[in-house]
Amino acid sequence: MGGKLVNKPKIFITRHIPKKYLIPYKDDFEFSQWEKEDVPVPRETLLAEIREVDGILSMLSDRMDEELLNHAKQLKIISNLAVGFDNIDVDTMQERNVVVTNTPDVLTETTADLTFTLLLATARRVIEANDLIRDNEWKHWSPFLLAGADVYGQTIGIVGMGRIGQAVARRAMGFNMNILYHNRSRDLAVEKTIGATYSSFDNLIKTADYIVSLVPLTAETEGLFDKSVFEKMKNSAIFINVSRGQVVDEDALYKALKSKTIQAAGLDVFQKEPISNDHPLMQLSNAVCLPHIGSASVRTREKMIELCLKNLHGYFYGEGPITPVK
Ligand code: DGY
Repeated sequence: MGGKLVNKPKIFITRHIPKKYLIPYKDDFEFSQWEKEDVPVPRETLLAEIREVDGILSMLSDRMDEELLNHAKQLKIISNLAVGFDNIDVDTMQERNVVVTNTPDVLTETTADLTFTLLLATARRVIEANDLIRDNEWKHWSPFLLAGADVYGQTIGIVGMGRIGQAVARRAMGFNMNILYHNRSRDLAVEKTIGATYSSFDNLIKTADYIVSLVPLTAETEGLFDKSVFEKMKNSAIFINVSRGQVVDEDALYKALKSKTIQAAGLDVFQKEPISNDHPLMQLSNAVCLPHIGSASVRTREKMIELCLKNLHGYFYGEGPITPVK
């Protein structure tokens, strides 16, 4: 598009975002937003709001599908505040000329930090250890009290060697880990710079001490980590998932953890979010569960908001969006 517009494009933001982020764009857009920061916009409200807007700044918890599109009269762009965009029916959007953008790069290092946090916390049983004191159960020091697994020098298997996978691998180098990866395609540059070894999926799950899922959710990856996969892992294996819950058969994971088919799991994502404290996985001491906070540092969330706004601005006034998907 580009150039000055007679009417400011109308943008609906599906969560409350502080005004300070919107002020730089106040002459360019007419913003409206859902009033709450911690509660998603109700579907009926979204369907009503979408009617008259030119663009939407959406969250990963908002379903962007054909039904929504059928309510929209002039929607041109969906700017999604996440690198993952499985909440959006991208094919339908593209067929109907609605541009979709996401927020890659700005969250890579923060999400890799959280991945490693989860890996270390699970290996060294940090949550259980904290709970022991909280529950006033620390009576004596003893040699094997909450003894966990080593990370240093062990084998990490990264499934999905995109930007975040590579950032996790760089952290693993600092722990002198042997790095295996599995990806749709080999990346020779990564193998050279990081010293990672390409592996078949089967070999990776059988040999790695830490299996880290960073695959995007697609038709091919849905349910990828199922009973047969957990059964092939070492009994000492620790499984980490920071991608999407739907890539895991949660029932199979629960059974694998309960029966000690695998040692432990660190999970930032779940099949159906949010989960509550009665979720089966929350009953297990060898599962560390986090409420989908992979990219949740203040600075990174700010950068994600800024990138969403720049994508909208680029589309309506500039050379096009900066980070369109596909
Ligand atoms: C994303 O951006 O897709 C992450 O899941 C958010 O933490």
